[in-house]
Amino acid sequence: MADAVDVEIRVMRADEFAEMRALCVRAFGDDSLGVLLDELRASWAWDDELSFVAVLDGEIVGQVLYTSAIVDAPERLEDVLVLSPIGVEPGWHGRAIGTELVTVTLERLARTRDEPLVFLEGDPRYYHRFGFGPAEARGLLRPSIRTPEPAFQVIDLGERSDMTGRLVYPDAFWRTDSVGLR
Ligand SMILES: CC(C)(COP(=O)(O)OP(=O)(O)OC[C@H]1O[C@@H](n2cnc3c(N)ncnc32)[C@H](O)[C@@H]1OP(=O)(O)O)[C@@H](O)C(=O)NCCC(=O)NCCS
Repeated sequence: MADAVDVEIRVMRADEFAEMRALCVRAFGDDSLGVLLDELRASWAWDDELSFVAVLDGEIVGQVLYTSAIVDAPERLEDVLVLSPIGVEPGWHGRAIGTELVTVTLERLARTRDEPLVFLEGDPRYYHRFGFGPAEARGLLRPSIRTPEPAFQVIDLGERSDMTGRLVYPDAFWRTDSVGLR
């Protein structure tokens, strides 16, 4: 694997949205990611403080977005976060930019946010290294039967939460058909 590069991880500026959006579409090779980002940005789930970029020589080479979601818990609705999407410029894959994005932003969220949990859908081989683990094993149910159980993962931002219930994504994920796998 090529050497890691030294990127700056910081909150995206509002005027960088188009650049971040284009990068994410290139990373996934899929225009629908841009529509998902548009819908999320226009929704209640968006917080300017939760869109992060990786910058190298003044260029955005990576991004990670967290949005608000809800767990439908036995006693009440609980506020949580969802990590999605994360993308790195295709020419820069495997240079630890994704690792830096996830590590630095999770540390920041742990210091600054009240939500106890961050969920994601992704390959456990990648996300285990950051401390994400299987969610259903601890009574946190996946939002769709199309989400493979091993892909549905969660991490505690502080001490271990005993929350149980079903994750409910913001509407934007459903309306853009971005939940689960086909
Ligand atoms: C996934 C992604 C963000 C990782 O960023 P990156 O900067 O390339 O990753 P890093 O350099 O930090 O980490 C590289 C490691 O991740 C692994 N990895 C990368 N993408 C992976 C994936 N989709 N599934 C499993 N492992 C993956 C590599 O094999 C490598 O493993 P190693 O450290 O054991 O050798 C990037 O590859 C990307 O943008 N992919 C396209 C979009 C995408 O699939 N996003 C995630 C959807 S859940």
